[in-house]
Amino acid sequence: MEQRNPGKHPQPPRREDASHMEYMTEVRNFAVRSWFPEIAGEVGEIAAQAGMPPVMDARQYGQLAPEIDRSPAVAGWKRVMRSQQQLAWRKLQDSYAADREFWEGRLTEAEERNPGRLHYDPAFKVPRSACEDIHLQPGGYCGDNLAGYVFYHGTRVFYQGDNDQDEIHGSCVDAMRLPADGQVRRILDIGCSIGQCATALKERHPQAEVWGLDVALPMLRYAHMRATDMGVDVHFQQGLAESMEQPDDSFDAVLAYILFHEVPEHTFEPIVRDIFRVLRPGGALTVIDTPNANAFPAANWMWKLFDAQYNCEPYSQAFGAFDFAALLGEAGFEDIRKETTNTFLLNTLATKPR
Ligand SMILES: C[S@@+](CC[C@H](N)C(=O)[O-])C[C@H]1O[C@@H](n2cnc3c(N)ncnc32)[C@H](O)[C@@H]1O
Repeated sequence: MEQRNPGKHPQPPRREDASHMEYMTEVRNFAVRSWFPEIAGEVGEIAAQAGMPPVMDARQYGQLAPEIDRSPAVAGWKRVMRSQQQLAWRKLQDSYAADREFWEGRLTEAEERNPGRLHYDPAFKVPRSACEDIHLQPGGYCGDNLAGYVFYHGTRVFYQGDNDQDEIHGSCVDAMRLPADGQVRRILDIGCSIGQCATALKERHPQAEVWGLDVALPMLRYAHMRATDMGVDVHFQQGLAESMEQPDDSFDAVLAYILFHEVPEHTFEPIVRDIFRVLRPGGALTVIDTPNANAFPAANWMWKLFDAQYNCEPYSQAFGAFDFAALLGEAGFEDIRKETTNTFLLNTLATKPR
């Protein structure tokens, strides 16, 4: 039933899904790459006419929202972005649900074929905050056993064809800070979803034991099946980043790629504290996420307002307004650096003192 691409990304269940997803990718590609610069100009002009500064915080964008929403171009763009997401998820979800038993069976078969690499407690309670329909995916990360399959194809649309071989996840792994002494025996990927960074980590550091941690079992089961099919040896564990089961001082390096903007603000501090605890002295942390500030005003508007209001990112505004580097300092990290590697994301690097 499932055809495999020569590379890492599988085909969706039916040919008609593949063409639907190609179309959605083109729509997103047009909306983000060709149309958004025009919208950015429009938002910038509205801000300038209202006498607002070129870089604004979420509250200032909120003040300006009625003006921005009066622009037909902006309203059209928002409608297209939201509908494209909804149509992509709906088609995929229906298609997988039509053969639910088969797809669930594949997950179970991988667990039997490769035991001891998927770790979870059936009594684990998922907090309500992790049950939102993030990015408008119905049921979010946790609500459907097949959510990992659906998410994988949905992210293909999101990355617009640039990540079919996990290129973006590979570049995150390449950008990671490693311990100064070069000892990399155990690595932890927090909020690992379907394990694309985790498998890239194992491929880059074959000598290391790699763990992916996530609150969502459907993501982890897919991650486990995918890593098993790829022949890459990674451990996946269900758990909360704010209260991990991992022992003190047990990891040399930790990565959190686009986790923090998707967790509630009250968990920032406990998560950072727990990462500090599980890192060994001299261990290194890399956080790759949406920026707290960005010189490109409309990109700020997109992160701080559009995504929060129209793409079900309920926590992203809080992260955008938060001084994350200061929190790392308060938790005890040292040598905290911020690096921008592309127009959208910010890498924050930190080390646990020896
Ligand atoms: C945007 S996704 C991360 C993407 C992923 N790092 C990748 O490589 O593509 C955010 C992930 O964080 C997980 N998550 C949310 N809250 C969490 C928490 N408190 N502890 C652990 N994982 C969490 C979600 O289930 C989801 O899989």
